[in-house]
Formats: sequence, structure tokens, C-alpha cells
Amino acid sequence: MEGSSLTVLGIPGSLRRDSFNLSLIERAAALAPEGVDFDIFGQLGAIPHFNQDSEGERTPSAVLDLRRRIDAADAILIATPEYNSSIPGVLKNALDWASRPPGESVLADKPAAVVGASPGRYGAIRAQAEVRKVLGAIGAAVLEQELAVPRAHEILAAPGATEAAEIERDLAAMVMALARLAGVPARAKLSDAVAYSRECQRLAAAG
Ligand code: FNR
Repeated sequence: MEGSSLTVLGIPGSLRRDSFNLSLIERAAALAPEGVDFDIFGQLGAIPHFNQDSEGERTPSAVLDLRRRIDAADAILIATPEYNSSIPGVLKNALDWASRPPGESVLADKPAAVVGASPGRYGAIRAQAEVRKVLGAIGAAVLEQELAVPRAHEILAAPGATEAAEIERDLAAMVMALARLAGVPARAKLSDAVAYSRECQRLAAAG
């Protein structure tokens, strides 16, 4: 990683103007170490509903823009809200578009991490798990760590308080882990490393 810079594409999974998840992506960008630049994709609302009849030459320009920016990024960081215990439709829709065409997805082997914020008690952990599952199905190299911001309306509104400082520390660590993952030179080796890490975690959980 020395001497070269990495670009992380931050994708907030909310269209809401005062989104807590957009705020989380903006904080991650502000906390990124030197050599890690953020591009923030704030156009999920411009992406039409996925339609297999609109693929190929008919692919909408907003989708082409999303794919181009994922492709240009060394890694992606998604901040997902939780709707009815799951992924917001706009985010799932964008991931479905980005998963195409089969065998040529810009997300294949792309280093990815997921965080989430919610005013509720659990910080969108169920949605985060589902986003990781979807990214894994597409073939991205997904960090297993989660970062949950519960009571986002309180914690994010009080920067400098202990809980906000802890979130910022964890967010900075997540960006570092993502940058390290993206810094591995060979993409093929990256998939191997992620598979190995998953197997270690599985064995550890099995005792
Ligand atoms: C929610 N919200 C919510 N929160 C949660 O923690 N678990 C949930 O299952 C749900 N379900 C849910 C469904 C629907 C349709 C809406 C609109 C909202 C609340 C949600 O966390 C809250 O609106 C956040 O502010 C959304 O994230 P942003 O927009 O602030 O990033």
C-alpha cells in the first residue's frame, strides 16, 4: 500500500436527506488515513428498478455510472439502514444491477465492508448481515466484521461523547481493515485469503 493511494466507494443505502447512514459514510471518509480517498455514491435514487429487459445496450445510464464507480474503486463501504429487519429496497436493487452481467460483475472479488445505523437498539445488524450475504453471493471479498450504531439519533448527534468516540474508533479500524484487504496485490489471492479467514472463524465458532 506504501506510496500508492486507494479509493473507497462509500454507498449509503438511504435516500433520506438527513440519513444516519450517509452521516456514517461521511465520518468514515473524514477518518480515512492518508492514502485512502473516498468517493461517495449518493445517486441510489436515480437507479431504476431492475429489469432484465433493460440489460445490455439498454442499461440505464445511472446503472452504468454505479458500475463505473465500483469498478474504479479499490474497495466499497456500504452503510445500510434496516427496513423491516432487512435490506432497503433501493440498496438491494442497486446490488442486483451491480451483480450483472453474470460472470462480469464489477463486484466480483471487490473488497467490501458493511456498517449500519438505526435509531433502534440493534444498529441495523440484521440488515448488515443480509447485505454481507448478498455481497458474498455476488462474489465480493467481504469483511466479516460488523459495525452497528444503535440509537443513532442520540449517538451521532453527540460527537465527542464517549459512545460517539468509540464508534469513530471502530469506523476508523474498519476503514483500515478494508484498505489492508484492498492492498493485497493479487485479486485471486484475495479470494483465497477471505475464504481462509471465514474458515478460521467457522472453526473458532465451532469450538
Ligand atoms: C424502519 N426502521 C427500522 N429500524 C430498525 O432498526 N429495524 C427495522 O426493522 C426498521 N424497519 C423500518 C421499516 C421502514 C419501512 C422504515 C421507513 C424504517 C427505522 C430506520 O432505522 C430509520 O428510519 C433510519 O433513520 C433509516 O436510516 P437512515 O435513513 O437514517 O439512514
